[in-house]
Amino acid sequence: MASVMILNGPNLNLLGTREPGIYGAQTLRDVEDLCTRTAADLGLTADCRQSNHEGVLVDWLQEAGAQQRDDHSIGAVLNAGAYTHTSVALHDAVTGSGLRLVEVHISNVHAREPFRHHSYLSPAAAGIIVGFGTEGYRLAIQGLHRLAEAGRLEA
Ligand code: DQA
Repeated sequence: MASVMILNGPNLNLLGTREPGIYGAQTLRDVEDLCTRTAADLGLTADCRQSNHEGVLVDWLQEAGAQQRDDHSIGAVLNAGAYTHTSVALHDAVTGSGLRLVEVHISNVHAREPFRHHSYLSPAAAGIIVGFGTEGYRLAIQGLHRLAEAGRLEA
């Protein structure tokens, strides 16, 4: 069975208690359960991981790219948190590994502070889901699956 990697970056371990007015009441565990159910409905397994460390996320993106190349994975969903707005290294990990990526943000970053308006990941992403709350993870997995199927039919 193919898998999909779901990566959450810094401070997303605090979901549920972190600024609930912006990020909602769902915990990371709730989000990972949603991802697991969504993936299962599509015949996929969800490999859910969270780290507060940029280099760990780089390693995982490279791993996801290798799994995709070997046809073991359809790609990855990433909420890179604040690293979205700072990290050339995460951008390069996606482009360098050839990873099919959907970038997710729980909040509408474009309606927030100007420093959240720029993403280093967006130019490397196949798709972007922003501002749908934690439901965005479901939409991201479904969208990634469609892109992977379209790529398979073209090949
Ligand atoms: C976030 C938005 C980022 O700007 C912020 O740093 C986060 C969460 C979101 O999901 O809305 O940590 O990625």
